[in-house]
Amino acid sequence: MAKIDKLMDKLVSLSKRRGFIFQSSEIYGGLNSCYDYGPLGVELKRNVKEFWWKAMVQSRDDIEGLDASILMHPRVWEASGHVANFTDPMVDCKVCKSRFRADELNDKKPGQCPKCGNKDSLAEARQFNLMFKTFMGPLEDAANVVYMRPETAQGIYVNVYNVMQASRQRIPFGIAQIGKAFRNEITPGNFTFRTREFEQMEMQFFVKPGSDMEWFEYWKAQRIEWYDGLGIRKSKLRFHQHGPTELAHYAAAAFDIEYEFPFGWKELEGVHNRTDFDLKRHAEYSGKDLNHFDDSTREKYIPYIIETSAGCDRTVLTALIDAYDEDIIEGEARTVLRLAPMIAPIKAGVFPLVKKEGMPEVATRIHHELKKHFNVFYDDGGAIGRRYRRMDEAGTPFGITVDGQTLQDQTVTVRERDSLAQTRVSIDKLVSFMQEKMAGYKRVD
Ligand code: GAP
Repeated sequence: MAKIDKLMDKLVSLSKRRGFIFQSSEIYGGLNSCYDYGPLGVELKRNVKEFWWKAMVQSRDDIEGLDASILMHPRVWEASGHVANFTDPMVDCKVCKSRFRADELNDKKPGQCPKCGNKDSLAEARQFNLMFKTFMGPLEDAANVVYMRPETAQGIYVNVYNVMQASRQRIPFGIAQIGKAFRNEITPGNFTFRTREFEQMEMQFFVKPGSDMEWFEYWKAQRIEWYDGLGIRKSKLRFHQHGPTELAHYAAAAFDIEYEFPFGWKELEGVHNRTDFDLKRHAEYSGKDLNHFDDSTREKYIPYIIETSAGCDRTVLTALIDAYDEDIIEGEARTVLRLAPMIAPIKAGVFPLVKKEGMPEVATRIHHELKKHFNVFYDDGGAIGRRYRRMDEAGTPFGITVDGQTLQDQTVTVRERDSLAQTRVSIDKLVSFMQEKMAGYKRVD
């Protein structure tokens, strides 16, 4: 990997140019911290979600899926502690009207605005609740307030016994969910790293009290391994343990999985031991008995919860940052996304070497055949080198070229994005060739 200057600027520009990520409502000047995924971005994001779902739900016998609604009974957020505690201290500058999170201000320059530089311009800190409010029904009054969920977790907690009974699971078992969450962040930023609308991939694992720390260690190990499978370089990942002052009100232990972003080491995912806090609170606020009765041991208890909480948009951003590279091929600069093949938006570009001699017809046939298995892209515009470069920049792992020899022996050239190796492959073996290469992929640090 080359050292890349101004990586974030380049990535933002590539994201727009190639259709990964656009600013929301751009023609109106954009909406701060909201983003839209374009044709390549939506494929990448879907692939990340699918990889997570496969690892966390489909490949396991002890985890079930769920898709809970975004709007929930407002009492849920009282029980969870979000109404009282989901706040950030916010400070306003009286001169330039900028807003800051109090913990982001410079302790050495109290009262001075970090933006306009005016001394003694900062007002007293105020608590600001990060939940978005809206109204259910036609009356916009306090009785009809509902919240846009700030995390997907609570939809899982309130459904634990529904899922358990319906699926005939026994403790220990988990429930996984991917869905949107909303936080009225005071200082969003760093492209899609911190936004006000984002998707989470959360899994809540319900265990017997006493076995919680063992499961906590198990899930820590599983989750960091998952990023390796996703093709993120290991040297860029680490754990950060929450100290006593960082621990959330519900957590007995918490570790963040952090990635070394161009703007520093930052949280990618949280692994939390939430104890019996959540179910106890929901029992108290709903008046329902949320004890679990284990008929094999005749024990009754409120399950402990081990949570793995990942940000989907943040994972996509990480995959893009980690994949971005620049090198020189045959004296020409190239931008390449070294995405793991299984998350790459397009798996192969299919190219006729020239637009004559029957090559476009053969390439079109291959394109249609491969489309039954993978997302592939047909391109017959411009020099072959340029077509390769366009696919490199989109993170496409394979380039398939139909040339004169193809017409003789039904083989094509497969060019690999990272090694630049070129292999002659028979057309009828293309699918298995690509599948084997993708399955054997290992990211080099
Ligand atoms: N249920 C626990 C929970 O929500 P969290 O640490 O607040 O824990 C989990 O959030 C993950 O969600 C974070 O590690 C991050 O990846 C993602 N996330 C949180 N806030 C975000 C935001 N404003 N923008 C993008 N992703 C965010």
